[in-house]
Amino acid sequence: MSVIVRNTGSGDIDGIRELQKRIYPTIPPWSSAHFEQQLEIFPAGQFVALLDGKIVGAASSLIVSWDDYGLSHDWKEVTGNGVFGNHDPDGKTLYGAEVFVDPTVRRRGIGRTLYAARRRLCRELKLKRIIAAGRLPGYHKHAQKMSAATYAMKVIWGDINDPVLRFQLLEGFQFCGVIEGYLPDDVESCGYAALIVWLNPLYRPGAPRPGSRG
Ligand SMILES: CC(C)(COP(=O)(O)OP(=O)(O)OC[C@H]1O[C@@H](n2cnc3c(N)ncnc32)[C@H](O)[C@@H]1OP(=O)(O)O)[C@@H](O)C(=O)NCCC(=O)NCCS
Repeated sequence: MSVIVRNTGSGDIDGIRELQKRIYPTIPPWSSAHFEQQLEIFPAGQFVALLDGKIVGAASSLIVSWDDYGLSHDWKEVTGNGVFGNHDPDGKTLYGAEVFVDPTVRRRGIGRTLYAARRRLCRELKLKRIIAAGRLPGYHKHAQKMSAATYAMKVIWGDINDPVLRFQLLEGFQFCGVIEGYLPDDVESCGYAALIVWLNPLYRPGAPRPGSRG
């Protein structure tokens, strides 16, 4: 098995869209125009994973000025409705807008390789951190019994296994709280998301940053 993670190109869009539709049947997929705009705005932040030449995963991100968002934001707002018009090269935060891996090849380190590419980008651009709001796809099974915040705590304590939050914690992210109404179409997560952060240990405030206008 040979996994390659590289920057996404226009020729990958159809394959990524097909995968996205399969993974999220209840969430409207991004249009080709969405992907084209993401690539135009921030090509370095878009990654695709290939396994023996076949598209098996993708991760997309943008740079934001985090002070504009915080715990009250939702997916539409922080991703400029998926087209990244709010991408700010002078921001200090790489925001993870999406990551997914083909269900037939999960638990083979592909998600980990995509996340490593994101951390590498964060270090190369001398950004302060990566922030994301991760899905809580196991929450719907517990929603009658507990709040999303309690659910997330139980995942952190190791009493419940959520495939996405568990993965992100193991990738070195810290849990910062839950966001209500982050993505209402995400019925598995009941619209909730876990706000997570990874701090770049090499970040130096005030150091010149590649790509920044300041
Ligand atoms: C989250 C996701 C990207 C992980 O991708 P993946 O390729 O399966 O992840 P990896 O194989 O790199 O997993 C790395 C480690 O994370 C942990 N992990 C991953 N999936 C897990 C699961 N279902 N349960 C528990 N731990 C898990 C494991 O420790 C794993 O290492 P191991 O297999 O050696 O034990 C994938 O499950 C996915 O696409 N989910 C659906 C889409 C989604 O919700 N994305 C998140 C958007 S916020």
